[in-house]
Amino acid sequence: YRDLRIAILGAGSVGAQVARLLLEHRQELSDRVGAGLQLVGVAVRDLDAPRTAEIPRELLTTDARSLILGADIVIELMGGIEPAREYLALALNSGADVITANKALLATHGPELFEIAEQVGAQLYYEAAVGGAIPIIRPLRDSLAGDRVRRILGIVNGTTNYILDRMDTEGDSLEEALDAATRLGYAEADPTADIGGFDAAHKAAILASLAFHTTVPLDAVHREGIEHVTHAQVEGAKHAGYVVKLLAVCERLTDPETGAEGVSARVHPALVPIGHPLAAVRGVNNAVFLEAEAAGSLMFYGAGAGGVETASAVLGDLVSAARRHVIGGPGITESTHGELPVLPITSVVTRY
Ligand code: HSE
Repeated sequence: YRDLRIAILGAGSVGAQVARLLLEHRQELSDRVGAGLQLVGVAVRDLDAPRTAEIPRELLTTDARSLILGADIVIELMGGIEPAREYLALALNSGADVITANKALLATHGPELFEIAEQVGAQLYYEAAVGGAIPIIRPLRDSLAGDRVRRILGIVNGTTNYILDRMDTEGDSLEEALDAATRLGYAEADPTADIGGFDAAHKAAILASLAFHTTVPLDAVHREGIEHVTHAQVEGAKHAGYVVKLLAVCERLTDPETGAEGVSARVHPALVPIGHPLAAVRGVNNAVFLEAEAAGSLMFYGAGAGGVETASAVLGDLVSAARRHVIGGPGITESTHGELPVLPITSVVTRY
């Protein structure tokens, strides 16, 4: 069978692990797909930067554009908005399918990229953008596409969950726990993205858009981080029977004044009763608890950050994208052409 040319952009904690696993399991994955999966290059800024996995020198390049133009499937793991946006637009316009874990890019430029993909008949996969290793994008897009999601309560940032957990169980200060999370490779390059709730807000925008078949722009997501949460508050909550969690809450609402139906998305620290399944989500784990009209309550749980764990979701997308090349078909299409408006936040409920 013919080879599919795979390009990776970025060799940070996720990119280096995707390259390693792809090289190590090349034969097995190729057999699974029915096409050879050939890693043709990894674009990096610095050829000599230290990495969590060794990548053969001849695969490294600083010329991302040439690499993209010679690829069938482009995997973007560099993060940030530019030049990631430009590279993905270039990849899609050249007819390549694209895989990304870039939640900030999707939350800010998702509609623009989905539109290019639709125009050129390419596909954009992003299972790794929310919840690390946890399958949550496909379940929302496919498995639950026939149901009506009412509400999502998500622990979608591993770093802040790890920090709050250490403040609870180890008596750490926020700074001590953040240092530990950074050493373990969980935190974003700029940890204010985690602490300030920005990373969780990106993910809330993505989840709400998917769950409610609409477009929830990032600036419509109400956001509060954990920077003001103290050890004393975490202790006090514990004595009262609660755990403090940074929650992403996305729900279908009816405006009490106009009666109009809409959606709302918000991120803020919340008191979760100790008996709720989300209270048991410890360490760097993430979970998405959702309520749907017919399915009832479901919970998706697992490692929310970490290079090799997130690489699992990226490689799953790679298998899907490669199968599409082999068997054709329409692939996965977005259904964000709905009409539900985003309602303004009128009050923040803090108990679940
Ligand atoms: N910094 C993010 C987190 C990485 O802690 O969840 C995964 O998106």
